Amino acid sequence: MWKEFVSKLRLDDWQPEIISFAETSDGEVLDGLIRDKNGGAFLIIEGGILDLLDDSIADWNRRDSFLDRYSKQCTALNVASTQCHRQSMIETAEANSDNTEKIDQREHHDQEAPVYDKNLSDTPFAISSDDVLMNYWIDRVEKSTTVVDLGCGTGRRSIQVLQKSNCDLIGIEISYEMVLRARCKCRMHGLLKRVNFCVGDAETNSFRNEIADIVTVTGVLHHVEEPQRVLTTVYQLLKDDGFLLSIENNKSGFRFLFDWLQELIPAWNEKAGKHHVISCDDITRWLRQSGDFYLERFRYHVFLPPHVFNFIGTNKACKLMRWSDKLGNLLIQKHAGLIITEARKAGLTPRNV
Ligand SMILES: C[S@@+](CC[C@H](N)C(=O)[O-])C[C@H]1O[C@@H](n2cnc3c(N)ncnc32)[C@H](O)[C@@H]1O
Repeated sequence: MWKEFVSKLRLDDWQPEIISFAETSDGEVLDGLIRDKNGGAFLIIEGGILDLLDDSIADWNRRDSFLDRYSKQCTALNVASTQCHRQSMIETAEANSDNTEKIDQREHHDQEAPVYDKNLSDTPFAISSDDVLMNYWIDRVEKSTTVVDLGCGTGRRSIQVLQKSNCDLIGIEISYEMVLRARCKCRMHGLLKRVNFCVGDAETNSFRNEIADIVTVTGVLHHVEEPQRVLTTVYQLLKDDGFLLSIENNKSGFRFLFDWLQELIPAWNEKAGKHHVISCDDITRWLRQSGDFYLERFRYHVFLPPHVFNFIGTNKACKLMRWSDKLGNLLIQKHAGLIITEARKAGLTPRNV
């Protein structure tokens, strides 16, 4: 985490101080704390990643082992006492059924993280799909200065955006193991200077308002209980006229074919929430509930099962994806596998949803 990143956080009544236990030669904090000088509250930075999760959904085993590792420094700063609250916090989390689903999502993606790229992001299906999609919004990415990737996973979208633009990027993700891989990949691609990654909940905004030109929410709404809360976060993060890009599982008449194939030969291990497929009506309703949005359009994408693309290899998959998208959009538009939402925070253009 870069030190100036603290200015983006919503820490209204804090007097924040960054305490660095380990940092790189160019000043990136690897392990440390952001502490409120006025009170005892603090946030952990571990492995370069800031932990913004609410105590009730946090991974306390990881937090505890961090505090153990730096127990001397933490005792001196009077923050080690948090351990005393551990049991009661876990009990609170368990008692709070609202968070059970969220904790399940975090744990599922922590477990999936080591194979996520092999099973999805690095497959011919994902590569060919990203290739087609980027063409739609490359102009906006090139012009943007700050992009937020909400539910960034292992950085599939983040890296694509960083490679196409000089923007800064904030990646927010509920699973530490997923975002750790995103950061690692950014380091390998030499992109680390322009990114800050955090563990956070997309349904709660921990950042100052109006910091982003673009917010991407790709494959995330079908994992959360209340998608309109994620879109409220998007609304708060976006500057006036800022752009929202969402990609979701479409509620299509042919969905049963994909579900059947996934059961027979799982292409990846999915744990969707209660909105496992999403229609344009759902999105329109959630946008309306979240703020003043101007809906530019819905696009439809992927008309053949991922298994087909993975079978034929990346080069052929890219060609097939382009052709099948063109044909599919002519013939059976609304029955694609993915629905893409392009919307803007209403600013100069008034809301239309
Ligand atoms: C299907 S993956 C998509 C990841 C990435 N956006 C991409 O396009 O590859 C969904 C991601 O959403 C994350 N997620 C689920 N619920 C979340 C929440 N409440 N807040 C933030 N991230 C969440 C999951 O941990 C997972 O990494």
